[in-house]
Amino acid sequence: MKNILITWGLWYLWSHAVVAFEQAWYNTIIVDNLDNSCLSAYRRISKILWKTPKFYELDIRDYKALDQVFVENNIDWVIHFAWLKAVWESCEMPLLYFDNNVIWSIKLFEIMEKHSVKNLIFSSSATVYNSDNPIPYKEWFDVWLTSNPYGTTKYIIEKIMNDLSRFSHFNVINLRYFNPIWAHPSWLIWENPEWIPNNLLPYIMKVISWELKELSVFWSDYQTKDWTWVRDYIDVNDLVDWHLKAFKRFEKMDLKNWNFETYNLWTWKWTSVLEMIKYSEKVSWKKINYVLRDRRSWDLPTVYSDSTKAWISLWWEATTPIEESISNSLKFIDYVKDGK
Ligand code: WQD
Repeated sequence: MKNILITWGLWYLWSHAVVAFEQAWYNTIIVDNLDNSCLSAYRRISKILWKTPKFYELDIRDYKALDQVFVENNIDWVIHFAWLKAVWESCEMPLLYFDNNVIWSIKLFEIMEKHSVKNLIFSSSATVYNSDNPIPYKEWFDVWLTSNPYGTTKYIIEKIMNDLSRFSHFNVINLRYFNPIWAHPSWLIWENPEWIPNNLLPYIMKVISWELKELSVFWSDYQTKDWTWVRDYIDVNDLVDWHLKAFKRFEKMDLKNWNFETYNLWTWKWTSVLEMIKYSEKVSWKKINYVLRDRRSWDLPTVYSDSTKAWISLWWEATTPIEESISNSLKFIDYVKDGK
């Protein structure tokens, strides 16, 4: 069985990857410092799997501890989710993002090379594209003109990995997507409801569960179908399905002379904020109060990407309807409220 190290594997989003790869008969080794997750996520993953994957509570900034993980385990692949992902936060603290996402990705790559582990799946982002790129965005567009520090960190890491593939024979699957939404069909994995959310859907959930009185809806000054921002909301289970499909395909390839592939993962559906509210009201049977507010400075214009390459190479397409993602999220909220 192949051993796959997953960075921040207890984070609500990427714990889905741990479950999916374990259920596909791979051994996962989780590295997480619990800054953005909690041990209850580990218990829930174990409950879903009826198995307790290996977990190292450490920070990838702890070079020695991370190196020891590679000493103790014969790792075949690494799935790396560069840790910090809030666009607004990156605009307020760029250096925090460059330190956490870039510097410590380099440290991870150094340790990988030291242990001759050169197969890597990287969770990049559609925020590397910018409004200067013609739409729909294609994988081969030049993307240096990023629009926020978060996107810049992803771009820099992509460039580093590209050179590592060209000059140090790393094999890299690089995935670009935009707005993951999530809850596992078991309703056991979701964003920790105690946390102040970072994204639209968790905020909507807090309004539905009466933790928030109303939702702030930030105007878009780009003309969209209803003058609220349009995004591609992709269910994390579809995202993880792609990670798995890509991994299985490339596992069969002769990795000696294979290097770097980028894929856009896109649902081909663009949903506005008001539509997300409408879907959520339909699924929850509850009215969602909202108040219109000025646009956020860091909000990106509508991003149109093209995921034909992912479809052709792996017959991958996103299949989970938004209502199903919202319904799974709601069931998690009920599950937590019942104190399970
Ligand atoms: C979505 C839309 C807001 C909250 C995401 C990820 C980021 C990266 C890029 C992957 C926006 C609006 C939100 C609220 C609102 N993804 N909104 N009221 O900013 O698109 O960033 O995509 O790399 O990691 O976070 O996501 O969920 O914050 O906002 O009106 O209370 O909802 O204006 O247009 P965003 P988001």
